[in-house]
Amino acid sequence: MTKILVTGGAGYIGSHTLLKLLMADYDVVTIDNLSNSSYEVINRIKFLAKRNFDFIEGDICDKSVLKKIFIKYKIDTVIHFAGLKSSSESNEIPLKYYKNNVVGSLNLFNEMAKNGVNKIVFSSSATVYGEPEIRKCKENSVLSPISVYGKSKLLIENILQDIKNAHPEWRIFNLRYFNPIGAHPSGVIGEDPRNIPNILFPFLTQVAIGKREQLLVFGDTYDTSDGTGKRDYIHVEDLAFGHIAALTNIDKAQDTNINVNLGTGRSYSVIEIIRAFEQCSGKKIPFEIVGKRSGDISELYADISLAKKILGWEAKFNICDMCKDAWRWQQMNPEGFKNVVKYISE
Ligand code: NAD
Ligand code: WQD
Repeated sequence: MTKILVTGGAGYIGSHTLLKLLMADYDVVTIDNLSNSSYEVINRIKFLAKRNFDFIEGDICDKSVLKKIFIKYKIDTVIHFAGLKSSSESNEIPLKYYKNNVVGSLNLFNEMAKNGVNKIVFSSSATVYGEPEIRKCKENSVLSPISVYGKSKLLIENILQDIKNAHPEWRIFNLRYFNPIGAHPSGVIGEDPRNIPNILFPFLTQVAIGKREQLLVFGDTYDTSDGTGKRDYIHVEDLAFGHIAALTNIDKAQDTNINVNLGTGRSYSVIEIIRAFEQCSGKKIPFEIVGKRSGDISELYADISLAKKILGWEAKFNICDMCKDAWRWQQMNPEGFKNVVKYISE
């Protein structure tokens, strides 16, 4: 059976993808240092999948752990989620981000090369586009990331491209996610930020449940329909399916086209998101318009034609599905994964 190594499998997107892989009968092993997640996630994935799998608590910056994994398991393909992801934090502690994301990835690619493993699906980000003149981004749009985080993603994409140039037998997909939101429809796994959320959706659901008083809307003078920032929000379940599509197609991956957008192809403003959430959850969201947040852009959304063409994939869930599923997760888990009682796997 195909053995897939998933790095960062206890994280938000990794956990949803891991579950899909298990349900599709893939043989998986995952490594996560739990720096932004908890072991409870692993228990809950096993509970939902009704299957066991190997979890290694370890750091991809630690070469000896990676070495052991590649000796112990006959890895066929790697799905590489492990990384730090806060744009604002990355500008404050750039060395931590470059070390964790870039050095960690280099260790992983090195170990893959040493063991003849040459298939990888990498979690890149729409943030590599920066603030493009044309808001609908094509994979060949200008790349100009603003944050250190975004630069670390672009660096890793470039490293993988260089590996592929030198070793055409490598099969690589750099998946550029737009803005993932939502949760598994069971409400058992979802996004669980450790601190005060600095991105829109987890903050909004925490306002809805009464943990925070109101949502601050960062600016209403952008050049958009209602003046608030617009993004391409995509259900995390759709993203997870995108990874299955990537695995299914990775052997056919051509020399070019290794970078692929995963978005829905349309954008929503912050006000539109608030209204959609209110309508689909029945909860009122108190909000206040405040000044713009530094580093924010007006609008970004995906050109999704390449994903359709080479992965045969497109997003299925609409904004109401995303709101409902995020709300169910928040209601069932007001303290995130801190509740360890309910979901214990054998
Ligand atoms: P997450 O923080 O929930 O998951 C990342 C996981 O990687 C965590 O469980 C963390 O503990 C683990 N990790 C971090 N550094 C590690 C290391 N050195 N060794 C081992 N494990 C490590 O984030 P997520 O939202 O699931 O994102 C997954 C990937 O997708 C990340 O690479 C992120 O940059 C990328 N991405 C995320 C978004 C987003 O908005 N969520 C958008 C685009 C791209
Ligand atoms: C969306 C919109 C805000 C919070 C971030 C990361 C980026 C990427 C995706 C990984 C904007 C507005 C937000 C709030 C608000 N992650 N907003 N009040 O900015 O697209 O990107 O997530 O690759 O690296 O930086 O997403 O959710 O922060 O913001 O008004 O409390 O919501 O101004 O218009 P963003 P976001």
